[in-house]
Amino acid sequence: MKSGFGMLNKESMIKKAQEILVENDLGGYTIPTHGLYPFQWNWDAAITALGWAKFDEPRAWLELVTLFKGQWDNGLLPHIVFHEHSDTYFPGADVWGAVNEVKSSAISQPPVLATVAKIMFEECLDKANAKEELNSLLPQIIDWHIWWYRDRDPENTGLVVSYHPWESGMDNSPAWDDALDDVPVVDWEYTRLDTDHIDGDQRPHKSQYDRYLYLVDFYKKCQFDAKHMYENCPYKVQDISIISILHKATKDLVELCELCEFDHPNVDTLKQKLVLTESAISTLWHEPSSSFLSKNTINNQWCEEITSAVLLPLYGELATKEQAQKIHTLLDEWVTASPYAIASTHPSSDKLEPKRYWRGPVWLHINWMIALGAETYGFNKTSEEIQKKTAELLNVAGFFEYFDCNTGEGCGGDDFSWTAAIALHWIY
Ligand code: GLC
Repeated sequence: MKSGFGMLNKESMIKKAQEILVENDLGGYTIPTHGLYPFQWNWDAAITALGWAKFDEPRAWLELVTLFKGQWDNGLLPHIVFHEHSDTYFPGADVWGAVNEVKSSAISQPPVLATVAKIMFEECLDKANAKEELNSLLPQIIDWHIWWYRDRDPENTGLVVSYHPWESGMDNSPAWDDALDDVPVVDWEYTRLDTDHIDGDQRPHKSQYDRYLYLVDFYKKCQFDAKHMYENCPYKVQDISIISILHKATKDLVELCELCEFDHPNVDTLKQKLVLTESAISTLWHEPSSSFLSKNTINNQWCEEITSAVLLPLYGELATKEQAQKIHTLLDEWVTASPYAIASTHPSSDKLEPKRYWRGPVWLHINWMIALGAETYGFNKTSEEIQKKTAELLNVAGFFEYFDCNTGEGCGGDDFSWTAAIALHWIY
């Protein structure tokens, strides 16, 4: 097993986690890990800010402020902001082809940031400084949420769509396999760099990369035109993880505006979107699997694979009591079915691969969200169990990007920012 931390006490773990954030700090933004991910990622930045907030509040706010330097005029907050050039990552800014002053990708990522900002505001010691930071951040966060509802749900259904598996943050989840299969493959040669850093058997297959890159090309060819992309994108999924995370974040954003006595003309629109999503979500309830599922809106097919995404409607507070009970039954069985929880694919699935990226391994920020969701619905014992299992993983394996759900072995990048941040915020 890689770099076990079993012998370290709590204080040493806190020190180590803080050191990881400091070492990954490139001046105003924190890279997820050196080499593999040398830029600022959207939901990583949000989760990482939670960790900074435990020992350096101004630095935590700065993480968010720096991320928004990459925001587009239309409100899109990109999934990667390429602040500085690096040769260790592919596809870089040139492949994405976006023409903004601050280079970035052209898709977004799960909008957990407003929820994080609310937690930071509630828990921070320096409220005056927090209010000042939020005065400039809130309009930017609101613009981003409006972008989701406007550009990704132009028909006002209440359910936004994702245009890329990377947008879900759960890049190669088996839930996206069928929808991705229908995407054409890219017609040019390329050299991946991720497999220079990490074993190929932990990373997505080439057949998936060929399609990921086709989509990147597609947005560029559309000149990022919202209408054209919506009408023609060959990958369009009502993604239950994004929908849940967006819903919770919008609720938190509206509440944060109230807490900060911050008036904005779009807050009413956001409130209407909350109501709309709450009434539309029942269309994603899939009775045979007793859970919500994502849906491919191009062919109206369910994304039937049961992955950790289906547990997130609890976090999004989108389930009725009765639905929550069913999801909880599934969750409970999931938590006990593999030695290290929560496997990103259901432990009984024949698609589960314990070490391959989003096809089985455990991700600590997902555990945190699912535990929060369980707690919201009063499933406190389950929430505590998830927290205990998360602490165990940190103890046995340290601060890896993700963990083998059968052996607990640390996988992917080491000294990983969001793992350190979750440890600081939630475990220690
Ligand atoms: C991978 C993950 C994604 C994450 C990024 C940086 O692409 O799938 O969720 O944001 O790495 O950590």
